Amino acid sequence: MQCLHSIPRAIVALLLVSSASHCLAGTHSLFFYFVRSWSPSFCKLDYSADRGGACQTASNRFTIHGLWLTCSNGAWPDEARCSGSPYNASAVSQLVPTLDDQWPSYGDKGNKAFWEHEWTCHGVCANVADEALTSQAAFFQRVLQLDRLKTLNVLTQRLQLDSEVKTSDLLEQATQLLGAVPILTCYYRGNTAYLNSIMTCLRNDLSLEDCGDSYESCDTETLTVPSWNPAINEADDSKQVHYLQRSLLKSDSRGCAVSQQKCILPG
Ligand SMILES: *[C@@H]1O[C@H](CO)[C@@H](O)[C@H](O)[C@H]1NC(C)=O
Repeated sequence: MQCLHSIPRAIVALLLVSSASHCLAGTHSLFFYFVRSWSPSFCKLDYSADRGGACQTASNRFTIHGLWLTCSNGAWPDEARCSGSPYNASAVSQLVPTLDDQWPSYGDKGNKAFWEHEWTCHGVCANVADEALTSQAAFFQRVLQLDRLKTLNVLTQRLQLDSEVKTSDLLEQATQLLGAVPILTCYYRGNTAYLNSIMTCLRNDLSLEDCGDSYESCDTETLTVPSWNPAINEADDSKQVHYLQRSLLKSDSRGCAVSQQKCILPG
């Protein structure tokens, strides 16, 4: 696919609407974060988790959070200018049983609202990197496929739950199993860091690559990977929890996080 920077400016504007998506790679280097959450931490610590509801069915495993197209400076493209169509729940109706299992929300708004959020805020941009991800069904299907790679399950079996582990050891273990350096993100409460998610980095063709430092990794020497215990209700403490990256972000009117840095699309 030709990129617009080689085309005279006068006609660029005319072409942008239809072909901007193919030309972003010439403007920015792009990659995906494939984000998987350690559900017990979310249910234990996140202020938005529905502890009385969906979290009752949580278990000790990673679940999909999303596939986020990202610019090399760490910023997200402005979703309003991405070309994916508006969310259509019918387009993924066949996938719902699988999505319920692999991509549950555990948040207070429920699974369907979570998928809509992930599509609206990230999925609509995925085809900028990979045309095959243009349709909503293709996007969700592809992410489910990526998740089925067994490596995180293997990691889950080897995790030492409920005890402090060295962050560098966990990173090394995850790197070996995944085959590329991921990013570990944490929740922080008091002096304890809890594993929030493991983010792998994928090239435009969704092949794995080492992550750089464009997202805040757990910055404590040790962290804890909590086990899920439905009897635990620490909601009262939740105000003290913080999540570093969140403090840097604000949301737009659709509830999509806006990066401080700009990832400006051509035109
Ligand atoms: C939503 O998706 C369904 C199933 O793929 C399709 O039949 C319908 O036309 C779509 N609606 C819109 C508004 O695109």
